[in-house]
Formats: sequence, structure tokens, C-alpha cells
Amino acid sequence: MTTDLRSWLALLDERGELGVLGAPIDPDQEVAAVLEHSDGRRAVRFDAVKGSRFPLVGNTLIGRSHLGPALGCATPEAAERFAAALDRPRSCRVVDRAEAPVLEEQLTGDALLSALPLTRQHEHDGGLYLTSALLSVRDPVSGTTNLSINRLQAAGERELRALLLPGRLRAVFTAAEAEGRDLDVAIVVGVHPLLVLASQSPADRALDDLEVASALASEPLPVVTAPSVDAVVPAEAEFLLEGRFRAGRREAEGPFGEFPRTYGPGGPAPVIELEAAWHRRDAVFQTILSGGREHFLVGGLPREALLLRALRKAGLDVAGLRLPESGSCRFDAVVALRDPAPGAVTTAMLTLFTGAVTVKTVTVVDDDVDVFDDEQIGWAVATRVQADRDLLVVPNAKGSSLDPSARAGVTAKLGIDATVPADDRGRFRQMRVAPPDPDRLRGHLAELGL
Ligand SMILES: Cc1cc2nc3c(=O)[nH]c(=O)nc-3n(C[C@H](O)[C@H](O)[C@H](O)COP(=O)(O)O)c2cc1C
Repeated sequence: MTTDLRSWLALLDERGELGVLGAPIDPDQEVAAVLEHSDGRRAVRFDAVKGSRFPLVGNTLIGRSHLGPALGCATPEAAERFAAALDRPRSCRVVDRAEAPVLEEQLTGDALLSALPLTRQHEHDGGLYLTSALLSVRDPVSGTTNLSINRLQAAGERELRALLLPGRLRAVFTAAEAEGRDLDVAIVVGVHPLLVLASQSPADRALDDLEVASALASEPLPVVTAPSVDAVVPAEAEFLLEGRFRAGRREAEGPFGEFPRTYGPGGPAPVIELEAAWHRRDAVFQTILSGGREHFLVGGLPREALLLRALRKAGLDVAGLRLPESGSCRFDAVVALRDPAPGAVTTAMLTLFTGAVTVKTVTVVDDDVDVFDDEQIGWAVATRVQADRDLLVVPNAKGSSLDPSARAGVTAKLGIDATVPADDRGRFRQMRVAPPDPDRLRGHLAELGL
């Protein structure tokens, strides 16, 4: 398993999951329209984005089935694997600048942001955005590297405006600004999905997110110190932009189509001034379709990992956990418990409500229900839930600030108990067809081409 974007794209190509579009394409919503139509089916490389000489790739994770290959495990094990990497990060391999592919070529001349295939994805988005950029910042509290993805709106050739929701980057930036200091930032674009996932690690001031990525890779992750800012970056990234958050500066940013598939509001945002840009030879730029499956899953899997840990810590026997795509892998959680003891269902609900602030609705099922099958979940709710006895509503809790139905990020939380009473399982048993000779059945189906 290698750890750069191009090796991942080669794998997708082998699997017949990479489409290549050679026709000229408009970065203004035309790229996003193609990605939206191919979401869940194909990654797409655009070789002729108008105005840029660099190819652009999107939908690099086309669905949940990609999480296993991306992390080098079976897909149902992906959340466990991520949780293990959080528990046991691994040192990276520091390489010399001369050996770092990301520094192979420097972008010189006046054109910097206009040379890149930036996109406007949705009709009311405030402008051209970088949507897949990983911001690498050194946390002065611990000296470790924090990675995060933040939507970045381009303004002119060298200015980016960033949305910083509450989290570690915002805490580091706020502290620097309070002392009147600018904050160095290295921005990488075009990385293997394991790095995109590692960027979504929890806001733990001691954690080195690059070391989480290194633990997810089959070999220690090669990293390099950026040439002109105090930050460490993956050496095999496709692009590196170096800059500084300016203390005290705010400029208008947004609105922007967000993961709830509604617009996140615009407002004054911190400003990054760029100083230098580097890229690999034959570099490929990357975009993430905001509100697409990749956006959902990249944020969803790390949350699933954290929540699994929290449920286990609460002493629950978890058979399965999923944040379904229909809730943007943020708002809804479904958990299957093995033989839940009295009180276990409520404990699971409260753990999930508080373990990830975005989680709003929790459905608890027994382990005969497959949490990865939407129809099974719907069936369990339809046949096992009575609204007057199986619902728990917690008003006025902290939720996602991007949920359009929340009031200033305050939301109600809903728990749905779709488990069956332990002393009455027979009544709820799923019926099934059990033919006498499974081998003969397989023969019949083969004859029918099924
Ligand atoms: C595609 C994508 C876009 C995101 N955009 C933003 C954003 O604009 N602002 C933000 O604060 N978080 C955004 N996030 C979430 C953060 O990247 C994530 O919460 C990260 O772990 C925050 O890191 P921090 O707490 O270490 O700062 C985005 C996540 C994804 C997957």
C-alpha cells in the first residue's frame, strides 16, 4: 500500500472506477455537475479544466466500499482500524527537501491561485474554492501537527479566506492572534484518502495527525518540513501552498453549499496570505464535492471510530455502528447491540448524543439487524417501535452549527428504541425462506443467471 494520490488513482483505474474526461470543462458548476452525477459510481479526472494546465480529480472515495481499500483492511473493520490508529499513532519518516516529490517544481510568476483548477460548486457559492485542502499547523502547546480540512475561498492571486469552526485549528489561531502573532500554515492538496481521513482526527492538543496517518499506512509516512513556513507536510502530496494567517484580519467569505446540502452562511473570515507554491511533476489537483458521498464518509468514519470507543467505554456490547449517508454521515446514528441489558439502550443513546455533537437522531437495534442496510433499519423501526413508549427526546442540546433547523446550533435529540423485549423475541423474529437443499438452490439460481 503506497500513500500518495496517484497510487490510489491507479488502483481505482484497475478497478474500472476512474473516468477520464478530456473535453474542456467549466470550473463554474460544470465540474460539480459531473461529480454529482458520478457520485457513488466513479471517480473522475478532468484533463482540460478551462483556465488551468493542471488536471483535477474528484470523487476519489466513491462510497463506503472504498474505506477498506483506503485503510488496508476489510471495509466493516475500517472504523476499528481508525480507532486503533488514534490509540497508537506511529512516527513519520522525515525526508530531505531534495527527496520530497511535492517540492519538485515551484509555481513562479504572478499567477498563483488563477493557475489552479479551483471550482465553484453550487449556484449560490460565494466564489471559487479549494474544497479538499489539508491545512497543516504546528500546535505550540505540544509541537505536534494538526491537520484539518477547511473550505478556502480564493480572493485574487494570493489570498484565501477560511471557515474555522470551533476546533483545534481555531484554538491555535485564536491564541496566536491574542498575542498579535501571525500563524504559519502549509496547505496541501492532492493526497491519499488515508490522509484525508486522518485530518478528521479529534481536536486533541497532543495528537499528531500526521502520525495518525502514518499508523494507517502500511509503512511510516514520508513527511518533509515546508521550505518557508514552520509546518510539516506529507512529502508525496501533489501541491503545497505556504502562507500565514494574518492576525486581526477578516474578510467576507461564503456562502457555501455544505454537508447538510444547504448553504452555510457567509461572514467575516480569517485570511491566509500565500507566499509560495510547489507541486509534483505532472501534478493532479483534487476537489471534494461538498455535500457528496466523499464529504460524508470522510467526516463520518472518524466519528464512527470515536463513537465506537465511547460505546465500549460505557460497557456496551456493540455489534455494529453506522452514521448513515442519508444523514450526511453526521446527523443520524444507528447502533446494533448484542442482548442489551436493562438500561443499555438509553446509555447508548446518551453516549451517541454527546460523543459527536452533530448526532441528532439515534436508532438502537438488536444484532439481527444489519446497520449497513437502510431497508433493514427501516423495517426494524416499522415493526418494533411504538411512538408512545420507544422514543426519547432531549431538548436544548448542543448540535451542529450548520444544521439549518437548529437555533444557533441548539437542537433537540431523538432516540428511537427499535430493540425487542428480551422475553418476547419470538414475536419479532424475522421470517426467512429456508430451502431444504442450499446447493440445489444455488444451481437453480445459476441457471437463471442470478
Ligand atoms: C470536505 C470537508 C470540508 C470541511 N470544511 C470545514 C470548514 O470549512 N471549516 C471547519 O472548521 N471544518 C471543516 N471540516 C471539518 C474539519 O476538517 C474537521 O472537523 C477537523 O477535524 C477539524 O480539525 P481541528 O479540530 O483539528 O481544527 C471539513 C471536513 C471535510 C471532510
